[in-house]
Amino acid sequence: MKMYNCIIVGSGIAAMQLANHLNDQFCILVITKSTKRANNSYRAQGGIASAVGKEDKPAFHYQDTIKAGCDFHNEKEVLNLVENGPKLIEQLKKSGLDFDKDNDGQLDLGMEGAHGQKRIVHCGGDATGKYIMEHLNSTLRHDIDILENRFVYELIIHPTTKKCIGIKAKDKNGQNESYFGHQVILAMGGIGGLFSITSNDPSVAGDGIALAYRAGAEIVDMEFIQFHPTLLYLKGKTAGLISEAVRGEGAHLIDESGKSIMSGKHPMEDLAPRHIVAKELYQQRLAKKEVYLDISMIDRFEEQFPTITAMCQTNGVSLKEKKIPVAPGCHFLMGGIAVNSVGKTSIDGLYAIGETASTGVHGANRLASNSLLEGLHYGQRLANHLNEQLIQEEVVIPYNDLTKDMTVNLPPLPDKEELRAKMMAYAGIIRTSSELKTLQDWLSEYDEWILNDMSLDEYSTETLQRLFMLQVAKLITTSAQLREESRGAHNREDYPTEDERWRQIHIVQSKKGIEM
Ligand code: SIN
Repeated sequence: MKMYNCIIVGSGIAAMQLANHLNDQFCILVITKSTKRANNSYRAQGGIASAVGKEDKPAFHYQDTIKAGCDFHNEKEVLNLVENGPKLIEQLKKSGLDFDKDNDGQLDLGMEGAHGQKRIVHCGGDATGKYIMEHLNSTLRHDIDILENRFVYELIIHPTTKKCIGIKAKDKNGQNESYFGHQVILAMGGIGGLFSITSNDPSVAGDGIALAYRAGAEIVDMEFIQFHPTLLYLKGKTAGLISEAVRGEGAHLIDESGKSIMSGKHPMEDLAPRHIVAKELYQQRLAKKEVYLDISMIDRFEEQFPTITAMCQTNGVSLKEKKIPVAPGCHFLMGGIAVNSVGKTSIDGLYAIGETASTGVHGANRLASNSLLEGLHYGQRLANHLNEQLIQEEVVIPYNDLTKDMTVNLPPLPDKEELRAKMMAYAGIIRTSSELKTLQDWLSEYDEWILNDMSLDEYSTETLQRLFMLQVAKLITTSAQLREESRGAHNREDYPTEDERWRQIHIVQSKKGIEM
């Protein structure tokens, strides 16, 4: 049996940055649910926020991050992130990534919501994620094993040492496989696939969080879920992201009569923090009013935003009208698996990086374009940490776990679409205690599944996916119900303001219970 030093689950920016920075002696497996290009990083449009402009400083980037996230951060983590930003951009440039430049050959910096100045570094206009991911994939060592179409359904925890020693996965034919390693790293993205309207790849549905929770890890801040204001909206459905960089170039949100919907709502108007713009748009949509992004002032739209142009064309939205119909949708999870500054979870041998993890770097609402930066920063940071302690001795003892019940008879699980619609309706942009309670009651019908510690070996991938989605939905609704205030992306109609008493409180959930 091949023994790995590192098993990396996921193939987004944090995963590939880590794989690129681990020493050559590491034997690495990258294992991913679908294909290595099916992830949110690949879809990212706007770019990477970094204080590289002449007038900019990491201290300004820090201030904007704290303000957008409503002062709910781990400040030390934010400081490290913003200070490392310019170095990470320099490294990518040196390794051959071509960022977009202006006419003077300097980095062409974009503007996005809640930033005090232009600091978004981008590639291919609005195809930054694709360019970076192709670059990180192309610079990977050739001896790294990459396995696609594997659904990881269990973390293997050694019964006596309690260390994470591997993973169990199902291949695309539903066959069970086990992989063993010294360290397991979860880099599996967020939870957009739990909501019926999302900018995310639908396969991204919180698997990493479900895996970690079931293995006994601590999960934190699950109520903080960011909704992006502008997804392309077509007859009740959405069809992908319209980057905030479009508003950064001057586009305005308007109603049917052409009136600005953000004027007078926030000093930054269309470029207010995302949770404020998303809430406004949501209220318009609830009142059955159309909302458009007026792009008439952007002369070279097709050239600057080729991905969005192609998306509009594919969906039959003519840009001749100079207005794009938009609606908000689930975009990013600020909470996740609780980790320290190098990504270590509460389980020995188990790490988490990127959106799956929660370091406290985003507070209650992530600043635009800090997510690719997060992936690069924590991928590199964990690599540096692991490089200092390469473990080569044979410490892993494969075993068959016969302690778990193999013969549990359980009620059928609900359809994924039903869960997604309920999450959108009851745990979405604006929440109330009674709606959350409705959702909690519905979820509790599946507690036999969610709370049972049975063996998962015999279930199909589809059943396990549904189980994981229910598990994560329960974590979200529990936290959202408990936090009786509105802060950042957590919007409670029944507690509409920030409450100072809640500023220091993080809701931590694990199998042992809830700590606040
Ligand atoms: C966008 O381009 O609007 C999304 C970038 C981000 O999520 O920060």
